[in-house]
Amino acid sequence: MIQNIDWSKLSFHYTETDYIVRSACKDGIWEEPYATKDKTIQIHVASTGLQYGQQVFEGLKAFRGVDGKVRVFRMQENARRMARSAEGLMMTPPPEDIFCRAILLALKKNIDYLPPYETGATLYFRPILIATTHEISVAPGKDCELIIVATPIGAYFPGKFHCTPFIVERHVDRAAPFGTGTWKVGGNYGASFRATEAAHAKGYDCMFTDAKTHKYIDECSAANFIGIKGNEYLTPRSSAILPSITNDSLITLAKEMGMKVTRRHIRVEELAEMDEAAACGTACVISPIGKVYDPDKDITYHFGDKPGPVLSRLYHALKDIQYGRSPDTHNWTEIVEIPE
Ligand SMILES: Cc1ncc(COP(=O)(O)O)c(C=O)c1O
Repeated sequence: MIQNIDWSKLSFHYTETDYIVRSACKDGIWEEPYATKDKTIQIHVASTGLQYGQQVFEGLKAFRGVDGKVRVFRMQENARRMARSAEGLMMTPPPEDIFCRAILLALKKNIDYLPPYETGATLYFRPILIATTHEISVAPGKDCELIIVATPIGAYFPGKFHCTPFIVERHVDRAAPFGTGTWKVGGNYGASFRATEAAHAKGYDCMFTDAKTHKYIDECSAANFIGIKGNEYLTPRSSAILPSITNDSLITLAKEMGMKVTRRHIRVEELAEMDEAAACGTACVISPIGKVYDPDKDITYHFGDKPGPVLSRLYHALKDIQYGRSPDTHNWTEIVEIPE
């Protein structure tokens, strides 16, 4: 265990660990993932990753459980999503076994950075795929490199599980319908900075609307939206949002709790009819929304100061699985044996 990290002071920022893991693909052949202490990569100036933004990434976590066991959550789903993102940008998708072996190697080599159970902190993995083919004409490159960065991150809610305010955004689009929004492409995040920084400056997080009509809720910053209306779990259908693995897991749990789950276009005004609302994603699991301000209409939708009962139940149900406090009946977690 690393002695000089104050786990309680960690937030969602990069803390250096000992190793990154790398695997390059040349002419369709992937090399076996290997660990290295060097945190810099050499990349040719003519690589299509640099020229044309041929780059995609992922985000997933490992947890130290209540039983002391180490669990990685739904790693295969991240592998599949990275493969879809890569195909979206005409890159070579890393095979699932290469992706998973690379994650497990990054975990084992950086095991001292996996925070203790009681801290609520986790070890976060940021897999990056970048195209390395040398090309100046506007054309996709097929050679690429997969890099896994591991970093400990703090508990999202270090104190109490609490609510966040959001502001509706209709003047900056994150991703176009039928564009790259459903893939985890770095460029989507660059495109969202203008809106998210402006929202933060006003004390809010950013709720993106659909880029075509700006009538419907798309995403909450870098998270999916969930609304609870009576016994119904509502989440947006959109061709521009990232299919969240957390949302998928929560939907499964909501159905098991007897809820009706509906994925459809959701008008911003429908917030008035919802009992609870939240953003969901790997970082927070669920981040309940306290209020949503719509500046174009000067309307505020209020959900109260405290997380509602349905979202609280779902939040704890998923976290209990991740930390081994309740049985993983869906095989979502992989228990990793760590050699002494
Ligand atoms: C744009 C966007 N939407 C949704 C999510 C939530 O996805 P997941 O639950 O897989 O972390 C993320 C985070 O990865 C994201 O960046």
